[in-house]
Amino acid sequence: VESERRERRLAVEQLRRAERLNIIGKLAAGVAHELGTPLNVIQGSAELLQAPTVPPERRALLVETIRRQTARISVIIRHLLDFGRGTGNSKAGVDLNDLAAETAALLLTTALQRECTLSFAPAAGAIPLVANASELEQVMTNLVLNGLQAMPRGGELRLSTCIEERVEPGGSGRRYGCVVVEDRGDGISAEDLPRIFDPFFTTKDVGDGTGLGLSISYGIVQDHGGHLEVASREGGGTRFTALLPLAAGAGS
Ligand SMILES: Nc1ncnc2c1ncn2[C@@H]1O[C@H](COP(=O)(O)OP(=O)(O)O)[C@@H](O)[C@H]1O
Ligand SMILES: [Mg+2]
Repeated sequence: VESERRERRLAVEQLRRAERLNIIGKLAAGVAHELGTPLNVIQGSAELLQAPTVPPERRALLVETIRRQTARISVIIRHLLDFGRGTGNSKAGVDLNDLAAETAALLLTTALQRECTLSFAPAAGAIPLVANASELEQVMTNLVLNGLQAMPRGGELRLSTCIEERVEPGGSGRRYGCVVVEDRGDGISAEDLPRIFDPFFTTKDVGDGTGLGLSISYGIVQDHGGHLEVASREGGGTRFTALLPLAAGAGS
C-alpha cells in the first residue's frame, strides 16, 4: 500500500510538472518581450562605452547601468526557472501576498500582450501560510491565464488577496488566506460549470487548452487543506477564490 501511495504521488507530481511546463510555454512570449528592454539598454550602454570621447565619470554610470540591467535579467530568468523546477513536496512558511505579487509580476507582460490590464490588490499586512510556494504560484498563474483567455477582446483582470473567516460544519470558525481572481469575460454556462474541475474538460481549441489547469489547481488547494470556489454567470464574468488555511498560531 505504501509503495502504491508513493507511485501515485509521483504520478501526480509529474502531471503537475508537465502542466507547469505548459504554462511556461504560454508565458514565454511575454518573458522574451520583458527581456528586450534591459537588453536594449545594455547594448546601448556598451556602444557608448566604446566611444573614446566618453568622460570617466560617465563611464562609471554606464557600467553601473549595465550591472543593474543584467541583474534585472537574472531575476526574470531565475523566476521562470524556479517556477518550472517546482519545489517537490516541501511546504514552508510563506506570505501569500509575496506569492501573489510574484505571480502578478510574472504575468504583467502576458496580460498587456493580450490587451488586458492586470490589477493587483493585496490585503494589508502579511498572510502567513504553510505551503508549497511554487504550487500555489501555479494555481494563481492558472487562474489568471484562464481569466485572460476568457477576455479575448481585452479587459481588466483583478488579482487580490484577503483573510476570511469561515464557519465549518463543526461550528467553529476557521481563518483562511484567500486569493481572488476576477475577470470580465463571457462567464461559464450553467451546463459547463459542474464539469470545469474535471481532468481534461476544456472548451478551448487544441493547443490553447489541455483541460488540466483547474483539476490540478483543485488538487493542489486540497493538498493544502483549502477550498477552490467559483462564481460565474454566462456573460457576467467569473470569479475564482482559493481559500488556504492560515498557518497555525497566525494572529487570530
Ligand atoms: N475564467 C474563466 N472564464 C470562463 N471559462 C473558464 C474560466 N476558467 C475556466 N473556464 C472553463 O473551464 C475549462 C477548464 O479550465 P482548465 O482546467 O484551466 O483547462 P483549459 O484552460 O486548458 O481549458 C476551460 O476550458 C473553460 O471552459
Ligand atoms: Mg487553463
